[in-house]
Amino acid sequence: MRKLIAGNWKMNGALVANQTLIHALLDGLRAQPAVCDVALCPPAVYLAQVQALLHGQDAIALGAQDASEHEAGAFTGDTAAAMLHEFGVRYVIVGHSERRSYQGESDAQVARKAQRALAAGITPIVCVGESLLEREQGQTEAVVARQLAALLECNGNRVADMALAYEPLWAIGTGHAATPQQAQAVHAALRARLHDALGAQAADVRILYGGSMNAANAASLLAQPDIDGGLIGGASLKAPDFLEIIAAAR
Ligand code: PGA
Repeated sequence: MRKLIAGNWKMNGALVANQTLIHALLDGLRAQPAVCDVALCPPAVYLAQVQALLHGQDAIALGAQDASEHEAGAFTGDTAAAMLHEFGVRYVIVGHSERRSYQGESDAQVARKAQRALAAGITPIVCVGESLLEREQGQTEAVVARQLAALLECNGNRVADMALAYEPLWAIGTGHAATPQQAQAVHAALRARLHDALGAQAADVRILYGGSMNAANAASLLAQPDIDGGLIGGASLKAPDFLEIIAAAR
């Protein structure tokens, strides 16, 4: 399966810095073309700028960081999936743990966001993952299974057209990535549940790993049989690091 490397800028960026970063990435990918899919997920306010900077090339696709669970209407501050689609957005992260924690997004809400994204023609990247306490209590598999079950309950076999991202909370932004073995174990568990629900199609669902993936650890994580790409936060803001991660995805 072709891997996907997606950069999650979170609430970082500025007009000039975005331009510098994207020019460096495009130069790097011209010199060494990727053999994986690549996406950038800037803050919503920069989507038009990044769309323009990416115009006329197909090495990097545009992504977004969130989409509303509603189609349109009185939801101040939110962005509809159809609006993202108008700006050329191909992927959207939904259910990132920062949104689940700080915005109180529930499993069911995340599942509806994914449904809206798909209906608008955008591939959702649905994040799942456990806290440190949940891991220490041996609940990792139960937590990600619950999150996936909500997605399946709402979307049925349409989940086959989505991507998942396993992002253990304790690994995000900490510099302490999951080991390849820890990550692979959870990815394999997710794959098994997808197989129960979707049958053979489960093999085609990309399951990304996220949480302190960097230039040094990307190759060993991406070599695992059920790790089909990465969702990269901090390291996606530095062109040389992000390019090294892309080069490791083969
Ligand atoms: P990180 O973030 O790479 O900075 O740990 C990943 C994410 O939260 O998507």
